[in-house]
Amino acid sequence: MPIIDKALAGKVALVTGGSRGIGRAICVALAQRGAKVVINYASREDAARECAAAVEAAGGQAALSGFDVSNAAAVNDAVKAIGKDHGSLDILVNNAGVAVNGMLMRFSDENWKKVLDINLNGAFHTIRAAAMMLLKAKTAGRIINITSVVGETGNGGQIAYAASKAGLIGLTLTTAKELASRGVTCNAISPGFIETDMTAEHLPEAARAKLMEQIPLARIGRSEEVADAVAFLAGPEASYITGHVLRVNGGMLM
Ligand SMILES: NC(=O)c1ccc[n+]([C@@H]2O[C@H](COP(=O)([O-])OP(=O)(O)OC[C@H]3O[C@@H](n4cnc5c(N)ncnc54)[C@H](OP(=O)(O)O)[C@@H]3O)[C@@H](O)[C@H]2O)c1
Repeated sequence: MPIIDKALAGKVALVTGGSRGIGRAICVALAQRGAKVVINYASREDAARECAAAVEAAGGQAALSGFDVSNAAAVNDAVKAIGKDHGSLDILVNNAGVAVNGMLMRFSDENWKKVLDINLNGAFHTIRAAAMMLLKAKTAGRIINITSVVGETGNGGQIAYAASKAGLIGLTLTTAKELASRGVTCNAISPGFIETDMTAEHLPEAARAKLMEQIPLARIGRSEEVADAVAFLAGPEASYITGHVLRVNGGMLM
């Protein structure tokens, strides 16, 4: 286990979709560096509790916050409660996301709305709700949005998912410009193919083998590798980085 310093001690972080997969690894990585982590989940409270146990095992402090990021009123209430319970919010990680796959011509309105509501509108809701607290953070507030390689390249069969992730990049850049004068940074991380429930559910074995041919590092990524990049952007070494899209994709796009 590498030696990790407590660069985030005293900071409060909210990780949306922190209960599973990449979000869970982000919660643990931030906790290892000393942050108090508020773990958001949509429905899997059991998974969120398991994540909280992992955070505590890593020597950190965890709190749970169940809400649907697509519900603006629920997001506002949850962010207010964080201010009341923890006194501040210093780091916001927009990680919650869903993938509903399908081709353009057969994609339903219902699925289009669902994916955009969670992946893009959800991040807008949390950033808008948290902006004032991030502006007041003792040291510069940090926003980190989890986009995807397909938001940069497009991907046949992922019409809504790719659009939502491309939109998230625009949201990141504009937020970075609007909040920079007050010291808040906003960056995105663009993972490639990472082993989680999301990818296990959606990728047949033959497609997986084909995908491997497109990854120069010739392996699937781990959630912890994305989490380490988040921790970097949340930490003091990234103080002069804003409006950046950091690729964690094994070279899939370069
Ligand atoms: N895996 C990859 O290869 C990959 C690649 C690029 C980008 N990403 C992005 O990385 C992020 C995490 O992906 P993952 O693979 O870790 O996914 P995952 O294993 O399916 O986990 C998704 C997480 O999002 C939460 N969530 C879903 N809908 C939500 C909602 N409406 N409100 C609040 N939370 C919600 C889930 O909560 P519950 O546990 O309560 O369901 C869960 O914690 C996503 O934004 C995804 O698009 C993933």
